Amino acid sequence: MLLENIPLLHILSTLVWLLHFPLAALFIGMGLVALISRLYGQLDREHHRFRLSDLLLERLPGFKSGLLLLATLGLNLWVLRLHYPALPIPFLYWLVVLGVLASGVWLIHLSRYLFQRQFNDPFSYLIGFIGVAQIAAVYFLILCGAGLLLSPETWPLLGQQPLLYLSWNGVAQFGQFMALVPTLTAGIVLLLGRLGDNPCENFRRFTERCAVVVALPALLALPALLVFGLNTAPTLAWSWPLILLLALLIVLAALVALVLVQPLLGGGPARSGLIASIGLALFPLWVFKTIAGQAVVLTPYTLDTSLLYQKVPLEARLGTASKKPVEKEEKAPKIDLARGERVFKSICATCHAWDKKVVGPSYASVVPKYKGNVDSLKDFIRNPAKINPDYPAMPNLGLSERDIDAVAHYLLSQVN
Ligand code: HEC
Repeated sequence: MLLENIPLLHILSTLVWLLHFPLAALFIGMGLVALISRLYGQLDREHHRFRLSDLLLERLPGFKSGLLLLATLGLNLWVLRLHYPALPIPFLYWLVVLGVLASGVWLIHLSRYLFQRQFNDPFSYLIGFIGVAQIAAVYFLILCGAGLLLSPETWPLLGQQPLLYLSWNGVAQFGQFMALVPTLTAGIVLLLGRLGDNPCENFRRFTERCAVVVALPALLALPALLVFGLNTAPTLAWSWPLILLLALLIVLAALVALVLVQPLLGGGPARSGLIASIGLALFPLWVFKTIAGQAVVLTPYTLDTSLLYQKVPLEARLGTASKKPVEKEEKAPKIDLARGERVFKSICATCHAWDKKVVGPSYASVVPKYKGNVDSLKDFIRNPAKINPDYPAMPNLGLSERDIDAVAHYLLSQVN
């Protein structure tokens, strides 16, 4: 019954992400710009920097928003567990992520409290920066997890090789998020510059320069990061919606960059409202882009097979495949078809069937080409190269030479 609810759950979690990411961006962006602006202000005694820092801290999302941030993240991690039960990420891990986020928010608020009581000493800065770094670290982990959704074929191996959790695609996703943060923050900085009935002209100009410094590098980096993300995603994930959303993001980034530098080129006051709204609009586009990538990879096929993984953990499968025959190691015949069949059933069959495509291609379509060439089949199993763009790459399964030999002979014995 739960499975029937999943599309609804997925829509719900998308909506929650749409709220969650901009809120997180405000904590990171406003916190960081307030700290840096204040630090500079203390060095060069420029009072505009202090004023900007004070305004940002004053309007930093409060404790209730912090709770909302935690609640929405917790909710979505829970939906993720329901939606992808095969994703082998322990509950403790989720708890740690939430804990680090909570203490990051708390530290930023603590440093705000200290600054508002004029404790402008290194300690207040230190905890502020640690708080921001903690929140950023949480999004690094979460977005690496999003990269994982593009490579379901690695899930069964995560327990043994936790480093598979980190991927270049995850790094690209994180970079993209961190490039959206300054764009939104620049919009807020500009809005603060126009605050009050009678805004100070000099302060407004200061915020215009500040917004350019904050957002322009990020806006220039965004297209490169998007292309990097596409390049590190499996070709299987590429789809028209994905490419279209990517193009739209790049166009919007260019547009904000143009509007942003206008006042510097003598084009009148910055259009703060426009920049803030585009900064905000980039987030939903980016969330949809990420989901468009995953939607193609996570077909019902991969999901079903993943459910299968969960029922038979890899250790158990490897255990039954390698323990029993150990005693008769010396007496083992050169070609051990029975062993090959066991390896096939316990390991390969989760991703392969003879007559139909599962996660990997059907054996009927690939094994015959290795006929008479057992060594190249063994080479492939030992060290799988990327072959067919319609499939994700086959992971390296870390089998012993004996198992590789046995399963290769077994597969070839099945085609004639
Ligand atoms: C986690 C999933 C997974 C497991 C487990 C797995 N494979 Fe694969 N296999 C794949 C995928 C995905 C491909 C397609 C790779 C490509 O075309 O780049 C593939 C492709 C292959 C191919 C075709 C290579 C070619 O030349 O096109 C062979 C042969 C193969 N696997 C053998 C095995 C054997 C033997 C085992 C067990 C020891 C095994 N696989 C276990 C996912 C898996």
